[in-house]
Amino acid sequence: MEPIKTLNARIAVLATGGTIAGQAGDASKTAGYKAGVVGVDKLLEAVPALSQVAQIHAEQIASIDSKDMSTALWIALSQRINALLAQDDIDGIVVTHGTDTLEETAYFLHLTVKSDKPVVLTAAMRPSTALSADGPLNLLNAVTVAAQKCAWKQGVLVAFNNQIHSARDVTKTSTYAVDAFRSPEVGALGWVQDGRVEFQRAAVRPHTTQAPFDTQAALPAVEIVASYAGASRAAIDAFVGGGVKGIVIAGTGNGSVHATLQQALADATKQGVAVVRSSRVGSGHVMRNGAASDDALGSVSAGTLNPYKARVLLMLALAANITKPAAIQQTFDTF
Ligand code: SIN
Repeated sequence: MEPIKTLNARIAVLATGGTIAGQAGDASKTAGYKAGVVGVDKLLEAVPALSQVAQIHAEQIASIDSKDMSTALWIALSQRINALLAQDDIDGIVVTHGTDTLEETAYFLHLTVKSDKPVVLTAAMRPSTALSADGPLNLLNAVTVAAQKCAWKQGVLVAFNNQIHSARDVTKTSTYAVDAFRSPEVGALGWVQDGRVEFQRAAVRPHTTQAPFDTQAALPAVEIVASYAGASRAAIDAFVGGGVKGIVIAGTGNGSVHATLQQALADATKQGVAVVRSSRVGSGHVMRNGAASDDALGSVSAGTLNPYKARVLLMLALAANITKPAAIQQTFDTF
């Protein structure tokens, strides 16, 4: 079957930095380079085939290593995407990003973009100067996905290494490999190759236009604390003392929490701090644990959201005045 022709699509490419815009002094180097230095015009110039796929409007939103991503930049990015997608002359968005926090930004956008048009994030594991750099093909594939009608209403997508993932499910699973992203348990939504895009399944949980979250309210402070052998309560006490509104636990197994941390969390919830239990395991889900802590403390189980995505949802829930444990649990069970 022939690839669908998409030449008339008008796609905005918003660049934020990352390794896809990274530069090394030596083409054989794939570590120890500087991320986020090559401008969006140069990224586009490196992919002449883009002109066969769509008309491109380019903007440089930021030039950062995504380890330095901020909630202020999330909000600015989401607002810019919403403004562009409200225009009749923009059919979709591609965001170029670093791989390190891509999954957090993608999930934030999945819950705050208010449009059915495609929003596709992409990135690279090798800097733009590297032998066999993966950025150019990832960018071409991301624009190809964003230009397709079948990518509408799918929520925010991640196009990486020929796969298409839902922002909700995807996570970085390798520090170096070019197939660095996976959607544990559920798998990719589909694939893109040589101009052809195929979806095999759809994301079923509400997102974008069906999500009640917006970027108007300031995001409250929510921190992540890991549970491990010999854990102390110092971090939780410091966060609570600093006025944190929520804590996400990267627990062991089914989000279980060291007894020392459990006591600190009991004290935190008495002061109105929302507590969500996620897991450090990397796949599977976290179930409510009944009397062991959730019922007694009013803590919430994160389901299949990893700690970093659970933090995104908890911040948005608290910003939307969803503060009671039962309502927060319902939010986690829904989104
Ligand atoms: C970053 O996340 O900005 C650097 C690492 C990468 O993009 O792979």
